[in-house]
Amino acid sequence: MSIASKAAGVEFRNVSRRYGNTTAVDDVSFTIEAGNLVTLLGPSGCGKTTTLRMIAGLEMASSGTILIGGKDVTRLPATDRNVTMVFQSYALFPHMTVADNVAYGLVVSGVRKRDAAAKATEGLELVGLGGYGQRLPSELSGGQQQRVAVARALVLEPEVLLFDEPLSNLDAKLRRKMRDDIRELQQKLGLTSVYVTHDQEEALAVSDRIIVMNKSVIAQTGTPDELYRRPKNRFVADFIGGANLIDGELVGRSGGTATVALGRLTLSVPDPGLPAGEVLLAIRPNAIRLRTGSADSAGDGIPVTVRKATYLGSHMEYGLTSEFGDLFVVDPNVASPVPAGATALATFTGDGIAAVAR
Ligand SMILES: Nc1ncnc2c1ncn2[C@@H]1O[C@H](COP(=O)(O)OP(=O)(O)O)[C@@H](O)[C@H]1O
Ligand SMILES: [Mg+2]
Repeated sequence: MSIASKAAGVEFRNVSRRYGNTTAVDDVSFTIEAGNLVTLLGPSGCGKTTTLRMIAGLEMASSGTILIGGKDVTRLPATDRNVTMVFQSYALFPHMTVADNVAYGLVVSGVRKRDAAAKATEGLELVGLGGYGQRLPSELSGGQQQRVAVARALVLEPEVLLFDEPLSNLDAKLRRKMRDDIRELQQKLGLTSVYVTHDQEEALAVSDRIIVMNKSVIAQTGTPDELYRRPKNRFVADFIGGANLIDGELVGRSGGTATVALGRLTLSVPDPGLPAGEVLLAIRPNAIRLRTGSADSAGDGIPVTVRKATYLGSHMEYGLTSEFGDLFVVDPNVASPVPAGATALATFTGDGIAAVAR
């Protein structure tokens, strides 16, 4: 195979980007290891695209230092960085064949036409489009055009491959397939990739690590599992996995475990490293179970009223009213669902609960 990986790591040291009075990215520091796929995840306007464009050199840092492959590139323009971006809009030339689109960047950078064409053929094969080279972009589906955009980036053998919301123009089923294909290709070629999305499920599915951003700063960095199981703050608990957030009290700790009180119940959670006292409990929708019963036989449960019960084939979704507030529940028990309007007991499974600062 002649398309090779030249993967390099990326480091941001206290990087900010200001536009007049707006600070788009505020004193951000992170390290991305070579060969990893790292996602910038956060709501619209939090600074993801600006961060990505600063890696590419399409946007210059107002302050701070950016390193690629250990080299300071802070002042280098895009053309002098070996970084390629895959855009959401694909940005293919409509009048050029697919093969010419893929070869374009190589030809422009001085590669001989024959060699560029050979690489383009190889790139198209890598993305599952062998044999499509002579078509025009308009003769391909949206998903296929996105693959062409990926092939065009791959043939340049970038040190870092950037994706800015690459799947947002595709329908749900195709998005899932494409994200799996991108992840597979990235791992196969050992590419360093930075992937921007506002979709938490997509981020959990493709990433080695996720950088969660909120309002121009990093809210938390970690593996998908760390972020899901040990969110460090309310924002991350809510944004990833949509936890129920209710007030509790940290009453003790031993080993790596803390005990929290929720009304008259005590629950074990991973030690959040917070002082004893008021905390916020982040309870995953699948960490709550429903059973029939009434308040006087509550035992390890809390009395609830089922406000809404929705059958979704593989699971039930419930909206509950409780003394701690409304709870959203995902329950795999579809065989004996609890109907809307019923009173029931909610219990909490050991896993899927975290404590964060209030
Ligand atoms: N060229 C620009 N001029 C002025 N403000 C900008 C510019 N680019 C981005 N911003 C602002 O910076 C913030 C972050 O934008 P962006 O990085 O595009 O966020 P995201 O990609 O997470 O949606 C937003 O408030 C946006 O309005
Ligand atoms: Mg953006």
